[in-house]
Amino acid sequence: MNKRFSKTKEKDSYKLIVYFICLVAALGGLLFGLDQGFIANSLDIIKAAYHLDTQGAEQYSAILATGGVTGALLSGLFARFMGRKKSLVFAGFIFSIASISSAFLPSFFLLSACRFFLGFGVGIASFIAPLYLSETAPAKIRGSMGTLFQLMITIGIFLISVTNVYIEKTFINPTVALPLMFVIVAAFALLMLFGSFVLPESPRWLMLKGRKKEALQVLQRTFNTKKEVTLEIKEIENTLAKDKGHILKELIKGNFLKILIIGVVLQMFQQLVGINVMIYYAPTIFGYAGMKGLIAMMTVPTVNMLFTFPAIYLVEKWGRKKLLYVGAALMFITMLAAGLAFQYIGNVVDPAIISQIPKTILLAAVIVYIFGFAFSWGPVAWIVCSEIFPLKGREIGMTITTMVNWTFAGLLMRYSLSFMDTFGKPSLFYLFSVFCVLAIIFVAKFVPETKGITLEELEAKLKKTN
Ligand code: BGC
Repeated sequence: MNKRFSKTKEKDSYKLIVYFICLVAALGGLLFGLDQGFIANSLDIIKAAYHLDTQGAEQYSAILATGGVTGALLSGLFARFMGRKKSLVFAGFIFSIASISSAFLPSFFLLSACRFFLGFGVGIASFIAPLYLSETAPAKIRGSMGTLFQLMITIGIFLISVTNVYIEKTFINPTVALPLMFVIVAAFALLMLFGSFVLPESPRWLMLKGRKKEALQVLQRTFNTKKEVTLEIKEIENTLAKDKGHILKELIKGNFLKILIIGVVLQMFQQLVGINVMIYYAPTIFGYAGMKGLIAMMTVPTVNMLFTFPAIYLVEKWGRKKLLYVGAALMFITMLAAGLAFQYIGNVVDPAIISQIPKTILLAAVIVYIFGFAFSWGPVAWIVCSEIFPLKGREIGMTITTMVNWTFAGLLMRYSLSFMDTFGKPSLFYLFSVFCVLAIIFVAKFVPETKGITLEELEAKLKKTN
């Protein structure tokens, strides 16, 4: 993305504050993961503590996404008017209040409101944290941040799965276990709140507001040499100069609309392949097939986290499209296999009598499916959306595509269990496999390869295909 430093000889050691900046911004990703992964291993406890049926539990799970959509919608405004740092403090504050309040086990209405606000915080943090980082951290670190952010999400999902399993096994009483689960989220939320208090403001935002002196002060704290500071200020000034002019004019150009549709459909498919049904409901789904215990609870978060690591390397080596093809093909095969496993199981009253064959097929299918998502669609959908928009329309483009991602995530969280109840267990997996095929066709026909080309080259390429 930023080629400037590849030409200059840059020191690979950074000031301590740079690591601190990365750490706090990464906490935004971690909290995203903690809230996404919270449900899987707490669903039974929530149901017990609040006497919920499947629909009530789905409703509680899904309201996170409604908050996410709202947070994503407003985050562009927060970023512009409050500044990046204050927006991060604000997100940390919302995370803290909502998780601490949840720990007091308020009425179900208030508990749901808290989950809405957790989603609101996630929506803000998932927009602001990468933005802040890309504007504040040195160029070499910026490049890999897209994947690292995703890695933090998966670490968050894994972490909360482990702690929730541990709490559930140790404290049998749901009204003791549930508050403790929220306390874990609250601890990281407070860490983010206090951490972001001490962060410097983004120099790019300060320049945008005409506060050059303060911007210089921040850059002197983050960069090693005077030369680097001068180069960075020049680059910011150049981009700001280019950025002047009417955003609206840019947005109504046919080209922007075309790119926007590509981003929107890509994010839609990232959800329609069914990932969050696994992230949220894997223990429930394994339970339908008579599988309980640690394998049912920990397989998805563990595989998801471990196989996000190869993505960091493969995104640059294979390129975005190849990863999307391979990932979707694997997910297609495995969703088909999972559907067949449930077809084989049929309508049993007692899952304990289900034979080993469909269980093994289901487990293998889920492992390969999560592997297929983690190293491809998980990070790549977000990376492509951060790369395809022209500079002027990037904030709006990313806001809209993020909202679409959350909207479809919410729909799946809200309706997938009921869908299986109504249309039979295999039907949902078959549906996901159809979406995988459609996703492959879409990538082949419409998604541009963004690996290794500058944003300007990409803009020209997209114009040509108009
Ligand atoms: C998706 C989330 C999902 C997570 C799983 C992200 O890329 O947007 O919805 O829960 O991956 O790792």
